[in-house]
Amino acid sequence: MEKSVAVPDSRLVGRLQRAVIFLGPPGAGKGTQAQELARKYGVPHLSTGDMLRENIALGNALGEQAKPLMARGELVPDSIILKMVAKRIERPDCSFGFVFDGFPRTVAQAQWLGELLRQHGLKQPVVVHFVIDPALLMRRITGRRMCKTGGDIYNIYDRPPKVPGICDTDGGELVQRPDDREEIVAPRLEAYAKMTAPLAAYYRRLGRLEDVDAAQSVEQVSKRVLEIVSKAQ
Ligand code: AP5
Repeated sequence: MEKSVAVPDSRLVGRLQRAVIFLGPPGAGKGTQAQELARKYGVPHLSTGDMLRENIALGNALGEQAKPLMARGELVPDSIILKMVAKRIERPDCSFGFVFDGFPRTVAQAQWLGELLRQHGLKQPVVVHFVIDPALLMRRITGRRMCKTGGDIYNIYDRPPKVPGICDTDGGELVQRPDDREEIVAPRLEAYAKMTAPLAAYYRRLGRLEDVDAAQSVEQVSKRVLEIVSKAQ
């Protein structure tokens, strides 16, 4: 199936007014859904993975620290991530809410975020939990291609662009992430199981977690995500 691009929905723009967190293993579809939800509500899509990759592309100190860890499929230390997120959410475009994809990823990051939202007088987040059989993830991860300029996400098997290698939205070049090679998938899944999966129990205890069957089609998952987010408003 070809990819369609979400556009801002005038009934939703400006109405999010909170943080939405997408939690789930690599390749579960968090980025695809975060991009779409953020576009509909007209809020920023905050992917810590994308922020780190931007720093790597810039060749700055933060990027240099993150690069070898990401290449091995390991998590980047909380000290680096928290500073980067704090700086990003200070920007005015976050004042109507934002969609986190890949953050928080440890219980310490989640506790820090809860405190930060309290300090800013913001509502506590809605957490969308992507539940999927790990056997489906390899094809999604190794088939993924991303637009070098706009970050749009494709899959050469299931969600190809109209013209191979070219982004439908802005004509940018589609590239494969270095950590999407087959041999890096297992360590990424291990890091998820050890460090991030416990967050589901953490948010469930707080009554914030909503499960989504992430094995469904992109359109079905989008519908369920929108239901969850609308219900929380
Ligand atoms: P990050 O960039 O966050 O990657 P990730 O969490 O591993 O998740 P992915 O981007 O791989 O998958 P996704 O769930 O977004 O799936 P997508 O929508 O693209 O992190 C990378 C690295 O950065 C980490 O390993 C770590 O080192 C570091 N890092 C980042 N944040 C950190 C943090 N907070 N703390 C510490 N370290 C951090 O979809 C995947 C593919 O499937 C695509 O091809 C897509 O087209 C396709 N697809 C999507 N949905 C569907 C569907 N429903 N059906 C069929 N195909 C689908």
